[in-house]
Amino acid sequence: MCGIVGYVGAGAPDARPQGVVMGGLARLEYRGYDSAGLAVVTSDRDRVGMRKKAGKLVNLEKELAGRPLEPATAAIGHTRWATHGAPTDANAHPHLAAHGRLAIIHNGIIENFSALRAELQSEGVEFLSETDTEVAGHLLAREVDRGESLADAMRIITRRLEGAFTLLAVDASEPRTVVGARRNSPLVIGLGEGENFLGSDVVAFIEHTRTALELHQDEVVEITPEGVTITDIAGHTVEREPYHVDWDATAAQKGGFPTFMEKEIHDQPTAVADTLRGRIDEHGRLQLDGGMIHENVLNSIDKIIVVACGTAAYAGLVGRNAIEHWCRIPVEVELAHEFRYRDPVVGVKTLVVAISQSGETMDTIMAVRHAQQQGAPVIAIVNSQGSTIAREADAVLYTRAGPEIAVASTKAFLAQITAMFLLGIYLAELRGNKFPDEIESLLDQLEEIPAKIQRVLDASEPVRALARTMADERTVLFLGRHVGYPVAMEGALKLKELAYIHAEGFPAGELKHGPIALIEEGQPVFIVLPSPRGRESLHSKVISNVQEVRARGARTFVIAEEGDTEAANHAEQVFYVPAAPVLMTPLLSVVPLQLFALELATAKGYDVDQPRNLAKSVTVE
Ligand code: F6R
Repeated sequence: MCGIVGYVGAGAPDARPQGVVMGGLARLEYRGYDSAGLAVVTSDRDRVGMRKKAGKLVNLEKELAGRPLEPATAAIGHTRWATHGAPTDANAHPHLAAHGRLAIIHNGIIENFSALRAELQSEGVEFLSETDTEVAGHLLAREVDRGESLADAMRIITRRLEGAFTLLAVDASEPRTVVGARRNSPLVIGLGEGENFLGSDVVAFIEHTRTALELHQDEVVEITPEGVTITDIAGHTVEREPYHVDWDATAAQKGGFPTFMEKEIHDQPTAVADTLRGRIDEHGRLQLDGGMIHENVLNSIDKIIVVACGTAAYAGLVGRNAIEHWCRIPVEVELAHEFRYRDPVVGVKTLVVAISQSGETMDTIMAVRHAQQQGAPVIAIVNSQGSTIAREADAVLYTRAGPEIAVASTKAFLAQITAMFLLGIYLAELRGNKFPDEIESLLDQLEEIPAKIQRVLDASEPVRALARTMADERTVLFLGRHVGYPVAMEGALKLKELAYIHAEGFPAGELKHGPIALIEEGQPVFIVLPSPRGRESLHSKVISNVQEVRARGARTFVIAEEGDTEAANHAEQVFYVPAAPVLMTPLLSVVPLQLFALELATAKGYDVDQPRNLAKSVTVE
């Protein structure tokens, strides 16, 4: 939520700071697009240059074209997902203080902003916006006016702020410095040659450098062209080793596809293959990417709780079925925002698995912290390297899906399911294999999945053609059972998010307990049909569910396994996916549903990469 970029360079004032920041904002726009703005430090020592506009980045680009900024040495930029204050020009960031000499941008929520605002107003400070951010700007200006450097001022004010924040500030009187601070919101440092970068995410600067430094909780960073200084809030210097970012710059571009969403759906074979690559060693041990939980601890756990939100939680539900079946350990999946408020039974024998694409979802971060306070070991399944959840968990298994830019999640979902399978295979081996023959061949079968996803993608035209005929639908229902149930919920979520159509995913068995009342003549219903090779009764039970809705006038569209000759007898149209072991079928059956939502939203003329009201990483609770 909110994207932040900062840049400082050694050259004479020129266009590079603005170019770097605008390029970074374009790549971070997925984090929020209610408004965008930037501030630059020019040769004027009394005022920074600033432009900001409500709406998407394109509005800011037009503003800059009409009213260009002067050459600069440093710049900060912001793309906003509104929390305090409507998405107006006035509430857009940056916010100015010290009569325009200082500019500040912010991601997060300053919870004690009302008290701080009242304090500043009593000193005569005038506020120009309704945001919580502006208080931080005026507090900073007050310290700088008292003679503190920008970095010292930042350390002083962060001690007074409560809540979550990443703050970046520039001051025209320190033309080659950008200062940042973070608590509960992300900020990463990029190291260049004679220039340095700050970003909410490495994609902000990946085009310029792939050497990065993490900034931890309650730390302040000062970047100049010559170097980077990190301190804690008390001012003690912190030494930190840089790391190499594996993603390349092209991974954050559209690669010839019309949208990031389309590209990312097509990235899925690679996302699964990369997540699998080299993961289990010859002793059957899972290769984690960071931290470790001792095998004795993993052997002693008597329960697993998966904490996640949205699509990531659906990946957890698929993983639950696999882990319970292979390992015979009870697994619960809990929405992270519900978890800590219900006083869950968690202890040293509970393994908590936190799933998150961004690694910055505040609800999931708080669930991880709650679990750790109860003594539970935490494994993170995360896509963004160096993110908060990856750092705070006891061990990390990265999904190697590459940057996911489109706001609605697609390839991360498949990679998360794959990572859950790896965890399940590992725990099964470690704790005494209950199904040696089955588990033996699991990895081989998983390795066949990427080629099968590719086949689904190659055969996608029929589902896309159907979507183009459905732009006027008001409600679409999705049914599934067993691992088909989370797929049904994910299909419904994608349709809500992308096409703004009311959609619900139900367990097919629940139909008769209420939802069947919704069925009327012409109601479209998608059904994820289990394999006829699996438990025979499950296939026939879902076929019965299809018949029940069809008898009441529903139009039935079925996702079925190739060779399922029964399916076509009960459906207006069948979309076939290649056969796979039952637990792995979600990796295939969800793909036509993603494409359906994508095509339907496109037919309605919607922006599939940046759906309304959403933000990519939800960094507030
Ligand atoms: C849906 C979607 C969201 C996220 C959820 C968790 O398309 O993108 O439901 O899955 O907000 O986000 P992460 O995985 O970043 O924790």
